[in-house]
Amino acid sequence: MIPRVDFPIADPTAAKKLGAALRKLDYSEDGICGLLGDEAFETGQRDAPVHLRRLPATKLATAVRLLFLQLPVPVDEATQAFGKGGLDALERTGFVTIDREVVPRSRITAIGDVLLASDGFSRDVDDPADYVATYTPTSRLLDVLTPRPRVGRAIDVGTGPGIHALLAARHSDVAVATDVNPRALAYTALNAALNGLDNVEVRHGSLFEPAGDETFDLITCNAPFVVSPERRWTYRDAGYEADELSALVVREAARHLADGGFAALLVSWVAHDEDEPDERAVAWVEASGCDGWILPVFDADPLEHAAGWNDHLATDPDEFGAVVDAWTQYLGERGVERVTEGAILLRKRSDGRKPELRIDEVEEDELGPASDQVLLAFENRERLRGMKRKELLAARVAPAMPLSVELAVPARRNGHALVHLEEGTCSDLETPPEAARALERLDGATELEAAIDPAFERQTLTLVRELLELGALRFATWDRAGRPGGRSGRGAS
Ligand SMILES: C[S@@+](CC[C@H](N)C(=O)[O-])C[C@H]1O[C@@H](n2cnc3c(N)ncnc32)[C@H](O)[C@@H]1O
Repeated sequence: MIPRVDFPIADPTAAKKLGAALRKLDYSEDGICGLLGDEAFETGQRDAPVHLRRLPATKLATAVRLLFLQLPVPVDEATQAFGKGGLDALERTGFVTIDREVVPRSRITAIGDVLLASDGFSRDVDDPADYVATYTPTSRLLDVLTPRPRVGRAIDVGTGPGIHALLAARHSDVAVATDVNPRALAYTALNAALNGLDNVEVRHGSLFEPAGDETFDLITCNAPFVVSPERRWTYRDAGYEADELSALVVREAARHLADGGFAALLVSWVAHDEDEPDERAVAWVEASGCDGWILPVFDADPLEHAAGWNDHLATDPDEFGAVVDAWTQYLGERGVERVTEGAILLRKRSDGRKPELRIDEVEEDELGPASDQVLLAFENRERLRGMKRKELLAARVAPAMPLSVELAVPARRNGHALVHLEEGTCSDLETPPEAARALERLDGATELEAAIDPAFERQTLTLVRELLELGALRFATWDRAGRPGGRSGRGAS
């Protein structure tokens, strides 16, 4: 068993120095994949001995062995890799202990060029209650769906090792990070220093309590949203009834958003009628007074939900069965027919007009960075509000991302073509081929009316509206001389 870091320790000076030493070695996502291959980030503890045998004799390889694979390293080898000062800094952070060899106590991963220390590899059921997990699939989900305009104040609620606070700190003046787990906050403070960020402020407390009455321009939250009877791990089980934690997160996020501010929240919601799976999420967003985008990612019946979240027990069929029974009984007693997990994106309205709401299912495996898309989608929806057919026909629009059109028509699509967003939410839209063909004429210079086949005007306008609402098309702006000014979206770069 790998011993874990003994908090409280917080030596930001040492962490800052260590960060510089790691960057010098090219300890980054690309650097690690360069040594271990593209699957490096799926590494579990059991893969470490195999990866070890892939490592060359380089300084970066020594760092990867110690901090990524969590394997001890001889002191002289570590001194060569980090330098005397770097190794000293590493010891002072508490991420390693040095005796006859250098022994890891934390794991450092890299998301792009962001360094993230957390507890070591998960040991599933043996993880302590205050275990601080690394960048997980849900961390990635929230990361890619978070809109990232330049903002003043950001807050990440349930920050864990602080990844969303660190990412927000790169495009905000101040990023506040909150958690109930002091070990998580200790990691967050060290991670801020590791990345040379001095605008991350950690605050201890439950959900939005540490925020008092403050408002923020950006709110992120991946708090423990799993609907279950469990209370075992702080990172997974928040101890609220059914989906009440999620309801509270949506309500409180709306309350703490500044005018025009965005929230990206990972939550889950139950349904008592499987034909109305999103009823509760819709009610939460409507009550929030914010424009909303609901993005369901997984939905499951109680048995699938219970089995999926307890997969780590499957090697012990008796225990697995007993836990699955406990979960399904809990959901059954509450009349739950489906459980959905996904994201709710909010934008605070300040004008008292009726909020807009859209629901689009997304596939986790296909999702790519969607910040620009999300910003443009909210902006387009505002512009489309109340827009009449004639106005839309007079508009000039252009793709905001690569779109692919599959005109070949398998029978199952009723002769429809498929329009696919190649980036961001990677959504698919079915449409008559004649409407899809108009897309190649949307160059930002031609008015829609001239670009579309009049016999398919209604279907084409429906498609164009959908693509605008999804942030896949943008309205083109023109300067006085009639030249395209092109980019109108806030997300434009
Ligand atoms: C699923 S982890 C997510 C960590 C991190 N935000 C990420 O996306 O990688 C949930 C985090 O919420 C924290 N947490 C649990 N209950 C909380 C509460 N009532 N208030 C604030 N944070 C809480 C846990 O300690 C844990 O760090």
